[in-house]
Amino acid sequence: MQSKQLKYIKEITDFTPEIAIILGSGLGELANEVSPVAEIEYKDIPDMPVSTAPSHKGKFIFGKLEGKNVVLMQGRVHLYEGYSSKQIADIIRLLKDLGVNTLILTNAAGGINKELSVGDFMLINDHISCFIDSPLIGANNENYGTRFPDMSNAYDKDLKKLIKKVAYKNNIELKEGTYVQLKGPQFETPSEIKMLSALSADAVGMSTVVETIAAVHCGLKVGAISMISNMACGVYDKPLSGEDVTIAAEKAGPQFRKLIKEIIKAL
Ligand code: HPA
Repeated sequence: MQSKQLKYIKEITDFTPEIAIILGSGLGELANEVSPVAEIEYKDIPDMPVSTAPSHKGKFIFGKLEGKNVVLMQGRVHLYEGYSSKQIADIIRLLKDLGVNTLILTNAAGGINKELSVGDFMLINDHISCFIDSPLIGANNENYGTRFPDMSNAYDKDLKKLIKKVAYKNNIELKEGTYVQLKGPQFETPSEIKMLSALSADAVGMSTVVETIAAVHCGLKVGAISMISNMACGVYDKPLSGEDVTIAAEKAGPQFRKLIKEIIKAL
């Protein structure tokens, strides 16, 4: 059965995107580089959660980027806004229903591993999800995927190879590591960061993992990149603010946009 949301979008555009890109902090301007076919605000879509986070606009942009059919999510929704993991999963399934086969996720994250520095890009090669509710809790919808999906290659191997190659070719330094999602919205304490470090997490954030799990479940290929907007609490003796995240994200924005565009071109 077609969801109300799919029906609403299909009445506006019959464009079929192959690639979806969820734009994290600092990447919103990528939207200006798409030749748009349609723009649809989340608030106009029936039962669609709306973004309340600062600098997250809240619309789908359908169009061509580097010759590929894409849909951008300019603005994502987070658990800390009061949405459930299931509501976030439904957005990923909507992308699947629209025809998407590849999902590129981006975010701003706090660096835990001291080999990372502010402004670095980190390819997410694995994640830790045990601090959030799984988006797959509840009756399984077999139309989307299996009850117990394998997560051994949550971030697609070939896509990881391609992303590394693209970064290397374009002289963009790309580190790699494990990302852990917490619910937020408060930043972590120094003790929490020590714990996450002991668990082998390299970077921490408040998004992406829920989206990845839902995407892997329904058979999308996932690639994800963090921009290290700050070192996590307690790594160095410096208080954190949401503003620092925004400033670092804006500074890294042009390089981040270039990296994503080159990835799309190479796909
Ligand atoms: N912690 C959690 N989420 C974040 C951080 C952080 O330090 N930086 C950007 N998003």
